[in-house]
Amino acid sequence: METKDLYKAADNRYDNPIYTYCGKSGVQLPRLSLGFWHNFGSVDPYERSRAITHYAFDHGITHFDLANNYGPVYGSAEETMGRLMDDSFRPYRDELFISTKAGYDMWPGPYGNGGSRKYLMASLDQSLRRMHLDYVDLFYSHRYDPNTPIEETLQALVDIVRAGKALYIGISNWPLDELRKAHAYLAERDTPLLIYQGKMNRLYTEHLDNGLLAFCKHQGIGYIAFSPLAQGLLTDRYRDGIPADSRMAKGKFLRAEQVTDEVKNTIAQVRVEAAERGITTAQRALGWLLEQDGLTSVLVGASSVAQLQDNLAAIIR
Ligand SMILES: NC(=O)c1ccc[n+]([C@@H]2O[C@H](COP(=O)([O-])OP(=O)(O)OC[C@H]3O[C@@H](n4cnc5c(N)ncnc54)[C@H](OP(=O)(O)O)[C@@H]3O)[C@@H](O)[C@H]2O)c1
Repeated sequence: METKDLYKAADNRYDNPIYTYCGKSGVQLPRLSLGFWHNFGSVDPYERSRAITHYAFDHGITHFDLANNYGPVYGSAEETMGRLMDDSFRPYRDELFISTKAGYDMWPGPYGNGGSRKYLMASLDQSLRRMHLDYVDLFYSHRYDPNTPIEETLQALVDIVRAGKALYIGISNWPLDELRKAHAYLAERDTPLLIYQGKMNRLYTEHLDNGLLAFCKHQGIGYIAFSPLAQGLLTDRYRDGIPADSRMAKGKFLRAEQVTDEVKNTIAQVRVEAAERGITTAQRALGWLLEQDGLTSVLVGASSVAQLQDNLAAIIR
């Protein structure tokens, strides 16, 4: 008979004050959160994924971020989350803040992509089944869909909260004008927009430059920055070449040709700043982001416990 290693969370997991309020809500999030985009799929070793989540939770990282199509294969990161609930986290469900999303391609045909009510409702039901959860803490529209009336997408989000399937609503990758409309629509329906999830890092500052982060702060909307390490470029992962087990070696989402001279210069600058402070490149890249006014949390990925440990030192001293 198979025996599972029982998990007991560290007693001192809340010793570090790493939380901040998410916008004007009553919800606190850790300043560093863990994303399941890579390294948690069916192609990845389950015991490694499990060890990363244990390390995270043992150090107060209460927020895990998923989406319907994280894997590969699509849906499999959520299935890993379901296994983790069964194996480790069920006793701690009320200490976890779990998010998922729908918006990009998930299943074939006209109802498996975009922003329709049909897609969002069906997708969340699937996500809950895969994750072995009754509800998620946060459900996102993963992108703005210009082919769906904005009211249809937003009303589906409101109704998801009313149905008790999500406690809060977020949007991700929406343009600023549509973010303004979403904020107004949701506020009028007693379902305030909790958080915006957007790409922000030392190499990509659009939401600093166009005022989107400032808008969130002004309106009391939280902001969580994804790919804060530019998928690993803003670390020492590629300092001596392209490791065989790295995201760049897999070649799909991070490619060598993205590393232009301008990118190299910025990475070099981050390394200088890190050396001046006696910290690692990753810690400096995260520390710079965490200094941005209005930023709630940095949403990191990790393919090992050691990487997460390095990143955590940006918020735990
Ligand atoms: N809303 C959206 O559209 C969207 C889009 C993208 C991501 N996200 C969310 O944001 C999360 C994070 O995105 P991301 O994975 O691109 O974030 P990231 O933190 O910028 O990159 C993570 C990758 O960087 C490398 N890494 C991390 N820490 C390191 C360290 N200390 N030293 C050396 N290398 C290190 C690892 O690469 P290796 O795997 O090569 O080791 C790791 O997989 C996702 O999981 C997802 O939840 C959301």
